[in-house]
Amino acid sequence: MLCKSLARFSCRFTGFVRKDFHVSVNPLCRATKENDNTNCVSTVSKSKPPRILITGGLGQLGTECAKLLRRNYGNENVILSDIIKPTEENLENGPFIFADILDFKGLQKIVVDCRIDWLIHFSALLSAVGEQNVPLAVRVNIEGMHNVIELAKQYKLRIFIPSTIGAFGPDSPRNPTPNVTVQRPRTIYGVSKVHAELLGEYYHHRFGLDFRCLRFPGVISGDPPGGGTTDYAVAVFHEGLLNKKYECYLEPHTMLPMIYIEDCLSALFQFLNTPEELLRRRVYNVTAMSFTPEELFNELLKYIPDLKITYKPDKRQLIAESWPQVFDDSEARRDWGWQHKYDLQRLVESMMRDVNTNFLSKHQLKQINS
Ligand SMILES: NC(=O)c1ccc[n+]([C@@H]2O[C@H](COP(=O)([O-])OP(=O)(O)OC[C@H]3O[C@@H](n4cnc5c(N)ncnc54)[C@H](O)[C@@H]3O)[C@@H](O)[C@H]2O)c1
Repeated sequence: MLCKSLARFSCRFTGFVRKDFHVSVNPLCRATKENDNTNCVSTVSKSKPPRILITGGLGQLGTECAKLLRRNYGNENVILSDIIKPTEENLENGPFIFADILDFKGLQKIVVDCRIDWLIHFSALLSAVGEQNVPLAVRVNIEGMHNVIELAKQYKLRIFIPSTIGAFGPDSPRNPTPNVTVQRPRTIYGVSKVHAELLGEYYHHRFGLDFRCLRFPGVISGDPPGGGTTDYAVAVFHEGLLNKKYECYLEPHTMLPMIYIEDCLSALFQFLNTPEELLRRRVYNVTAMSFTPEELFNELLKYIPDLKITYKPDKRQLIAESWPQVFDDSEARRDWGWQHKYDLQRLVESMMRDVNTNFLSKHQLKQINS
């Protein structure tokens, strides 16, 4: 029943055609598949695209991720879900459904009714928000993750759960931070992500679960961020363009790894489609660049010369100081051919265009500041 009501998105899928979001085909896959004429971007049958559920889909990453997956697998095969109310725009391109990750039976019903094959689990309370409400972060980030991983095991789903640079802590090597090292984070966000990484790896080895996890750095996009420690790198574009001033909550020399949304989602897409035999790990670091607030603002001054920056560090400074400065993603580059496209200059150029044309409204500014 549930999915019949979703069937109004009648844009029928006519074939499994990969359309680029600058997604590069892994050269390593190309070598191994040279003779069988298979495009390694897909490990599912070419005639049958996967049906995908995205949890927490109305956040910073979810809506853009849905656009990319829908372009590749067909609109009706990618179901966005969340507990917040969608906008008209969210409903335009494909199905949306209410799904609370704390409700196991509700999730079970969606997976069965909609014949889900892949689960992309984005629901989470991010670092700064998590510290403000630890009991809720425990429920959403840990209990919620237990629900989705159990569901993935029961129904043999491929499951992607993002992790973060926040999964490291003050004892971790910070420059560079390798794929496998001491973690011991000091935020509930980080603790819950290490828990997800380890449980996912355990379920893979114990039950054969197809668990995949990328540790993302700060993700920069035109969409409002969800309350993380790297949010300044998005907020400065909105406030800078609107008010010509920005008060930064991190000190000018605080270096953190970052990635532009397009690279982030390309990594996700490419990783999701990497054949099992190329994956030497279930959890990989990925990154594109590292910069400080001062370096970002200097680049931005080329576009907004009268931009006034002030600094007022708050609790997020302490979190940032325990996180990696430079992220070593050489294993992802080696195993499945990960490559980024955006450096600092290209990132700022693209963000200026995006925020200028799409997001310069007071409403969204309120969301960023809240
Ligand atoms: N944005 C980044 O910079 C970044 C970096 C590294 C990792 N990640 C990870 O990527 C994922 C998505 O991040 P984001 O920036 O889009 O987060 P976000 O905060 O923007 O979105 C999270 C979504 O989860 C939803 N949610 C909260 N409680 C829920 C519940 N009980 N049931 C269902 N949904 C619920 C929220 O409504 C929200 O829309 C998260 O797991 C995050 O840890 C993000």
